[in-house]
Amino acid sequence: MIMSGMHKLLFSGALAALTLLAGCERPPIESVQRGYRGTAMVGVYNPRTLEVQAPKHQAPEAVPAVPAGGPAASTVYKNVQVLGDLSLAEFTRTMVAITQWVAPEQGCAYCHAGGNFEADDLYTKVVARKMLQMTRTVNTSWKSHVADTGVTCYTCHRGNPVPENIWFTDSGPTARSRHMGDRAGQNFPSKVTAYASLPVDPFTPFLKEAKEIRVYGTTALPEGNMQSIKQAEWTYSLMTHMSDALGVNCTYCHNSQSFGSWEGSTPQRATAWHGIRMARSLNNTYMEPLTANFPKERLGPEGDVAKANCATCHQGAYKPLYGAAMAKDYPALYGAGATAAAAPAAMPAAVAKARKPAAPAK
Ligand code: HEC
Ligand code: HEC
Ligand code: HEC
Ligand code: HEC
Repeated sequence: MIMSGMHKLLFSGALAALTLLAGCERPPIESVQRGYRGTAMVGVYNPRTLEVQAPKHQAPEAVPAVPAGGPAASTVYKNVQVLGDLSLAEFTRTMVAITQWVAPEQGCAYCHAGGNFEADDLYTKVVARKMLQMTRTVNTSWKSHVADTGVTCYTCHRGNPVPENIWFTDSGPTARSRHMGDRAGQNFPSKVTAYASLPVDPFTPFLKEAKEIRVYGTTALPEGNMQSIKQAEWTYSLMTHMSDALGVNCTYCHNSQSFGSWEGSTPQRATAWHGIRMARSLNNTYMEPLTANFPKERLGPEGDVAKANCATCHQGAYKPLYGAAMAKDYPALYGAGATAAAAPAAMPAAVAKARKPAAPAK
């Protein structure tokens, strides 16, 4: 809380500085100390980048509330499997909201063909129903990550039927190039790795499969110490994505004196730990099972369904929409109806040691 408050302060400070300096000179890069004095846990922010991104992170206004009461949607409509408990008015309000969030240009017809609202003949409606369940699961079962802020369809979609940031499995360079030998998924320019020479698909092993995200060995002997340079490269690729997706430096989560130590890490690293498990669970519980519902042209080059990573929600901000709590205005996004999802992982004792750093040194 202290940290996110500070962050907001920094952000508005940066904007204020911008206004003051407009017409004088390019605003300087801002830096902020995040750890104890001497830990060099500095976050570096470019006010110009923040200014360009700011409008993108503004939450839209809520659809006006409707009076409580009235018959349940399930008593009137024929094919409501998730939202049946809502009142008729709240149900309609929800349809209006999801249209604005997901298909503002296409309208109701994006999910309902020819005015036949009960039919499930468009894949978009079937997908949207699963998305309602997924959103409910995030808001009720993953508070370890999303807190009371929660998510709405808008968090990922932002007015687009297909969210701007999605990923597909990419066996990449080995498959695509004439290079001899195994390129270990790398040495191929990719935005994912900020064009560094790192494996271009850290998502399949870490946000779908549950490979260990490790660099440091914990024992002296090879047994139980399989961490290798190759393994390190995959970890760094994921870390690059995470920093990029949140618009932060490594020091937002780590003390670079020891990247592995939880004691030296910020509380945000523990939040990120849960985020990794949440993204993995959403991809396996909700996205993968939809593969057969999507038309071929929506699948990736290797035939897999589009999946979520940190950027799908965060889109360059430390919290999606700078932490605007949109979800609380929509009862449809909470409550029963979530499909049985893998229970969120309990936080190991080591992770719980990530601590709040002292107030920033002046
Ligand atoms: C992004 C997809 C999507 C859009 C856009 C959408 N809907 Fe729906 N609609 C759904 C889903 C999913 C259900 C089923 C909900 C459930 O199973 O609980 C549904 C169900 C309905 C039903 C109930 C039909 C019945 O008898 O079962 C009505 C009525 C309806 N929508 C009206 C609308 C209107 C009006 C709009 C435009 C303002 C709209 N919808 C836009 C996805 C959508
Ligand atoms: C965690 C991020 C996330 C959230 C939250 C989310 N979606 Fe999605 N949505 C996705 C991804 C990823 C896809 C797959 C992209 C594609 O269609 O290829 C998708 C696809 C869809 C599609 C299919 C679009 C198409 O043209 O193929 C619909 C419709 C949809 N979502 C509706 C919704 C609705 C309604 C909600 C809120 C109840 C919602 N989504 C919430 C990530 C999300
Ligand atoms: C948003 C928070 C966050 C950011 C930013 C971040 N990391 Fe991490 N990092 C984590 C988490 C969480 C883990 C542990 C993952 C797990 O165990 O599932 C981790 C693990 C690591 C490890 C493995 C440590 C071990 O025990 O072997 C290294 C090395 C690492 N990060 C380096 C980096 C570097 C370099 C950057 C910047 C490019 C970075 N991280 C950015 C959260 C973050
Ligand atoms: C389903 C959407 C969603 C996905 C996917 C997601 N996040 Fe988040 N994340 C959120 C929301 C919402 C918050 C704000 C929670 C709050 O207000 O405390 C948040 C907060 C955070 C924070 C705390 C920021 C702070 O300053 O307190 C970190 C760190 C973070 N996310 C990292 C990640 C990482 C790393 C990933 C990918 C592995 C990820 N998130 C994936 C929605 C998401």
